[in-house]
Amino acid sequence: MEHNSTGSAGSNTDSTATNSVLVSHLAVLGCEMYNQHMDLMDKIVSLCKRRGFVYPGSEIYGGLQGFWDYGPLGVELKNNIKKEWWKSMVYQRNDVVGLDAAIIMNPTVWEASGHTQAFTDPLVECKSCHHRFRADQLVGSQCPDCDGQLTEAKTFNLLTEVFLGSTEPKMKAYLRGEITQGVFVNFKNVVDSSRVEIPFGIAQVGKAFRNEITPGNFTFRSREFEQMELEFFIEPKDEEAAKWFSYWKDQRLNWYVNLGINKQNLRFREHAPDERAHYARAAEDIEYNSPFGWKEFEGIHHRGDWDLSRHKLTYKDYTPWVIETSGGVDRATLFFLLDSYSEVGDRVVLKLHPKLAPYKVAVFPLVSNKENIVNKAREIYQLLKPVTVTTWDDRGNIGKRYYAQDEIGTPWCVTVDYQTLEDGTVTVRDRDSAQQERVSASQLDSYFASKLN
Ligand code: GAP
Repeated sequence: MEHNSTGSAGSNTDSTATNSVLVSHLAVLGCEMYNQHMDLMDKIVSLCKRRGFVYPGSEIYGGLQGFWDYGPLGVELKNNIKKEWWKSMVYQRNDVVGLDAAIIMNPTVWEASGHTQAFTDPLVECKSCHHRFRADQLVGSQCPDCDGQLTEAKTFNLLTEVFLGSTEPKMKAYLRGEITQGVFVNFKNVVDSSRVEIPFGIAQVGKAFRNEITPGNFTFRSREFEQMELEFFIEPKDEEAAKWFSYWKDQRLNWYVNLGINKQNLRFREHAPDERAHYARAAEDIEYNSPFGWKEFEGIHHRGDWDLSRHKLTYKDYTPWVIETSGGVDRATLFFLLDSYSEVGDRVVLKLHPKLAPYKVAVFPLVSNKENIVNKAREIYQLLKPVTVTTWDDRGNIGKRYYAQDEIGTPWCVTVDYQTLEDGTVTVRDRDSAQQERVSASQLDSYFASKLN
């Protein structure tokens, strides 16, 4: 289970407020580098709101701590991350199939899996201001908000309760705390209905919910978030577990690197035995060098036969072991944004991998008051729309339009100008080099298709 964060017990949803509490704690330590880093965090939070990546959830009613909404650009980025994950984990392999299980399951699932008992964090409360904290995240023994005295730690279960049905007493169930159990309870269904043979995996992407004591650091620790997970079933042998654990560590690290995360900002961290989740025999995190420290991106877990044996499920005459890769989609979205952020002079450039960029191409008419140029540009825009995700802009001057597209990571801008009317060519400007080349408008579809593949 995911641990090890720097959260704030701020009482509202405003990420800026959450960040400023963090900033005030650490700025007093005189840590200049920290200030620079949090400056980056503030810039990302502001960019996300201003350009439509991420908004505070239910903002017009004061928000709700730990909940976030993804805007027009955020949903594209997040969908692209999920698409690339599914491509590499399911479509490009012969040994993994997909699943989409229900968010709410029979509550017995969570008793069998051990979550009703062990899915907990240690909670302390300040006796003066009554703010609550995770005991394992506190540096000192006093309240970080008012220096008050703290209560003894008690275990706090993170499962979110829901009540079902129309007759009293309503049935208590849970929003899933990890998407994983949906895979295990369907293990027999998948084995019986598809031609899988061990070793094989079941992949799933979906929402999970945790009643986190201290949501914070923008979307990093939320109460509602998405996970992308693989449960890979193997023979119950130590050498098999060692081989597949190491294999999946490499696969997952390379996936982030191939999609543009700077390798220097990634590392593995092994969990100490007392830190592991109740189901894990071994666990390593892929961590990211974030503005608020090295933080968990994704966990690779050796779950042994914990889950299948709890659900009394077997394969042939044995209980398989499981190697799990469990990543957060929201965390990936945040870290891809942070890692791709750069400033070139007064220009902000999101150097997102083209496969992840919300828009691949922007089409502009050089001037917006010449009908034949605007019409030609519209024609090209309509032609490209079915080929790749394309946007249109005819506001302001061309330089401002380039800047606006750089800031949201659009890899290529197409400008239709006077020469287009004469020889049918357009300029294509590359986001990262700012170089321009002339390309025949009739070849733009194959030009972008080859760049994207
Ligand atoms: N099935 C195993 C499991 O859920 P985990 O380490 O608790 O393992 C896996 O969570 C991933 O889910 C984490 O690495 C992180 O990316 C994401 N995650 C966990 N809690 C989160 C939270 N409160 N907010 C956002 N992402 C979270």
